[in-house]
Amino acid sequence: MDISRVAEQGLVLLGCGKMGSAMLAGWLEHGLPAASVWVIDPYPSDWLKAQGVNINTPLPESPAVVLVAVKPQMMGEALPAIQALGGGDSLFISVAAGTSLATFENVLGADTPIIRAMPNTPAAVRQGITALIGNSEASDADIVLAEGLLSAIGETVRLDDETQMDAVTGVSGSGPAYVFHLIETLAQAGEAHGLPPELAMKLAKSTVAGAGALAMAADEHPSQLRVNVTSPNGTTQAALEVLMHEEEGFPDLLHRAVKAATNRSKELSRE
Ligand SMILES: NC(=O)c1ccc[n+]([C@@H]2O[C@H](COP(=O)([O-])OP(=O)(O)OC[C@H]3O[C@@H](n4cnc5c(N)ncnc54)[C@H](OP(=O)(O)O)[C@@H]3O)[C@@H](O)[C@H]2O)c1
Repeated sequence: MDISRVAEQGLVLLGCGKMGSAMLAGWLEHGLPAASVWVIDPYPSDWLKAQGVNINTPLPESPAVVLVAVKPQMMGEALPAIQALGGGDSLFISVAAGTSLATFENVLGADTPIIRAMPNTPAAVRQGITALIGNSEASDADIVLAEGLLSAIGETVRLDDETQMDAVTGVSGSGPAYVFHLIETLAQAGEAHGLPPELAMKLAKSTVAGAGALAMAADEHPSQLRVNVTSPNGTTQAALEVLMHEEEGFPDLLHRAVKAATNRSKELSRE
């Protein structure tokens, strides 16, 4: 991550909750000087206060980056604090779910470079994935800078069009909760078949984490990995016949779940 420009001109972080803190911890670890960071947050955490960054002090005139990490419902209240930085050289990056580029352009001016990003909660352990898209003012160098900053919390991918953000929300944004529920229900099923709760949960968590790690590391497609562990007439096949059932299995269930999240994301961005 090239942080020299950010170190020189400064970075303003609006909102330092879960997502803001995870990013800030990564940047400081990568060598961004604490003195180059200005945080605006009404109730700074003890962790934040111990980092040596500028908290709720007057902002630099032209920071390299202004990163917005407040909840969408706090946006109206929070944005005036940084509105004056719009229309200049500062690159704005927002990780707020459901707040469109057009909304930011209305507040900051359409000549402001803005990047909208959608991270997910494994960011807390730096294993998130963040999808990004810039407005027409955002240059390739701006996107590269945003990718560098967001790589502090995991991988990044670029979108072709902002409309893809709703489906991204349905897959990776909300997706960790689907997997948490898979872990819960896999453990419950183990319990139902005689395992003690702690053992069932340990098996379920490690199975999901291990299968995820293997899917990431392997050259084969996940469907090939599945075939590799499915012997004819074996135990896995017996379970997959249930899970892969066209109407009652995962294909239809996940299709409906992702559709519901995607539609809700569309509705929220219209509200
Ligand atoms: N967490 C995730 O997994 C995730 C995933 C994708 C996207 N996001 C997006 O990331 C953004 C931040 O989420 P989060 O989970 O980090 O939320 P969070 O933990 O609630 O953090 C938001 C922070 O903003 C602060 N804040 C509230 N009003 C403010 C104001 N007027 N000015 C400055 N700061 C203000 C809050 O302070 P108080 O605590 O004092 O209110 C809090 O520290 C959201 O827009 C969310 O949609 C989060």
